[in-house]
Amino acid sequence: MGVEICVEGLTKSFGHQVIWQDVSLTLPAGEVSVLLGPSGTGKSVFLKTLVGLLKPERGSITIQGRDLTGLREHELYEVRKLFGVLFQDGALFGSMNLYDNIAFPLREHTRKPESEIRRIVLEKMDMVGLIGAEEKLPGEISGGMRKRAGLARALVLDPEIILFDEPDSGLDPVRVAYLNQLIVDLNAQIDATFLIVTHDIASARQVPDNIGLLFRRELVMFGPRERLLASDEPVVRQFLNGRMQGPIGMAEEKDAAQVEQELAQLTEAPVVREPTPRLLPGPGITRPPRWEAIARREAELRRREAADA
Ligand SMILES: Nc1ncnc2c1ncn2[C@@H]1O[C@H](COP(=O)(O)OP(=O)(O)OP(=O)(O)O)[C@@H](O)[C@H]1O
Ligand SMILES: [Mg+2]
Repeated sequence: MGVEICVEGLTKSFGHQVIWQDVSLTLPAGEVSVLLGPSGTGKSVFLKTLVGLLKPERGSITIQGRDLTGLREHELYEVRKLFGVLFQDGALFGSMNLYDNIAFPLREHTRKPESEIRRIVLEKMDMVGLIGAEEKLPGEISGGMRKRAGLARALVLDPEIILFDEPDSGLDPVRVAYLNQLIVDLNAQIDATFLIVTHDIASARQVPDNIGLLFRRELVMFGPRERLLASDEPVVRQFLNGRMQGPIGMAEEKDAAQVEQELAQLTEAPVVREPTPRLLPGPGITRPPRWEAIARREAELRRREAADA
């Protein structure tokens, strides 16, 4: 059914470099959340911290009543079975063909017979469009294919929590559209809790239930998709609209006067505030019950906005 992940006051540094501090958010069970942020703000570090690969200095990560930050290695090993993770670089074993790469978690964590493993591996390879590439080595295929192999591998254990680090980077636009539909369909079918890091704004606008944004070592905002899409917070608006004008600069943060000037000029151009429609599960896929709750939440928000206007 997916599990809730509750992050409180999390801080991560490397030496003197604080990556982010005091990050608190709850990933609701069974919902899809997207984490955005400029390059280098620590999104990948956040995912690695969630699975216990990196140790935070402060704060807690609570899953099923247990704080992951306090667990020993063998306890973490058990908790990790809840997770399916696609790392940013795919992290495939270079000397193993795709079939064996995807079968790896099943062989490592289960006692399933090879016949059953074969069924699962081929099912997932089919799902990501890799049938026929079983024998290929990671070095022999395109970046997009490696991504999709990593996706298949993240799914073989039927995880309760799915973390994808830029699943869409290196994919062509058509494949990104298929991937987004796959995520929405998968979520409706298996109801796992998803956290997806992406730079693709179009995906971020239409796929998730919740959006979070990391900037300047902080989680600027985390909340329901529709609330962030309608937000007036300058960083959120700049990022979700992919604009140059705003607090986020190319190499570093801009000074306040410059940001103010840019934003003043910007108000002359029409600002798109139309709610982006949510991507729905494909035909024949039953929507999970929580979709009704989300629809109610969105309707309530629209009512409140109308009342405010
Ligand atoms: N193991 C590590 N040791 C030291 N510093 C690290 C380590 N891993 C990441 N960092 C630093 O943490 C910061 C955040 O890195 P991270 O990879 O999480 O960024 P990101 O938001 O995922 O960026 P991108 O969008 O480019 O993938 C960077 O400054 C990086 O150099
Ligand atoms: Mg990253």
